[in-house]
Amino acid sequence: MKSVITEALFSRFGIFYAIINTDLQIIFIEDSLCRFLDIEWDGTGQDVFDVLPEMVGIEEDIRNVVSGRRSEYSLLGINRTLYEEIFFNIYVINSPGNAGEALVVIRDVTKESLYRQSIQQSRNEIELLQRQLMQKNLDLDKTNRDLLKSRDEQQVLNQVLEEKVHERTRQLEQSTELAMRLFHQTVNSLMFALEKRDSYTVGHQRRVSRLACAIARELGLSDEAVEGIRVAGYLHDIGKIYVPSEFLTKPGRLSEEEFNVIKAHPYVGFEILRDIEFPWPVASIVLQHHERIDGTGYPMGLEGDQIKFEAKILSVADVVEAMGTNRPYRISPGIDRALEEISKQKGIIYDAGIVDACIRLFREGIFSWTDE
Ligand SMILES: [Fe+2]
Ligand SMILES: [Fe+2]
Repeated sequence: MKSVITEALFSRFGIFYAIINTDLQIIFIEDSLCRFLDIEWDGTGQDVFDVLPEMVGIEEDIRNVVSGRRSEYSLLGINRTLYEEIFFNIYVINSPGNAGEALVVIRDVTKESLYRQSIQQSRNEIELLQRQLMQKNLDLDKTNRDLLKSRDEQQVLNQVLEEKVHERTRQLEQSTELAMRLFHQTVNSLMFALEKRDSYTVGHQRRVSRLACAIARELGLSDEAVEGIRVAGYLHDIGKIYVPSEFLTKPGRLSEEEFNVIKAHPYVGFEILRDIEFPWPVASIVLQHHERIDGTGYPMGLEGDQIKFEAKILSVADVVEAMGTNRPYRISPGIDRALEEISKQKGIIYDAGIVDACIRLFREGIFSWTDE
């Protein structure tokens, strides 16, 4: 029964064997089994229960197998050897009807058992991790809820702030609108103050302002600059408040003294306006509206670039309006004469580009007095 090959094969697969007789004494035991169970065997009959105490209590079952009444009996053995705990299955096998000897096969399942243990351990660890993960998810849920809550609170706060900003912006717009309205009312009042006193100027400043703005737009000036010209046009003759009205409406030539009084009106206008904080240089434009580019104007006799461009526009619009529209005390020479006059003086006393723009406005029908 024993051969080197079977011993090697059995050891290789963790299977060892022994043979027992009817007295339940071991009559053969493999060396490798002795090593596996960490026991000594001197070769003489030895009680199987000494070697495998796991069998104590099942003597009757073992006897049945040895006597051939039963073919097999198996049980699990656990044995703490000198070095480690080993697990093994014990099979007591016999051929049916064969009385006398039985084979005791020991199958080492230590590794399988450890494997099962490690699987169980892994399962336990996985379960623990799952529990931790669930807890983490719960925590995360709570954090998310807290975040959502604080986001909602933030949104409410933002809404309140937005409403406040909106309200303040509306208030600011209202007060800006009010300031602008007051400003325009003030300009109109100043303009009417002169017109009330003096029929000569009725509508003059407004019409000059309209033409000057049209010229400025024709020349591509910004909306901001056009607005400054509009205001300066409305007020350019405000200084005539200082001039006795009979001088202004006097037919025929004025004396030098009378003319000198009239010539003071740009300066008087400047004096009236210079302390008003306009967003444009209105007072300077008014001061220069009778200056001419060849230096023959008044009150300072400025020339060329010394004169503000807005004042140059105003001077052209002023003379065209004065000649081109009727006055209560005289018939107008007409718009054609007015345009002829500025055309003759183009580049001499009036800026050439401004004159060209003004003529274009009338000739091409872009501008007329009739839509007043
Ligand atoms: Fe004037
Ligand atoms: Fe004027």
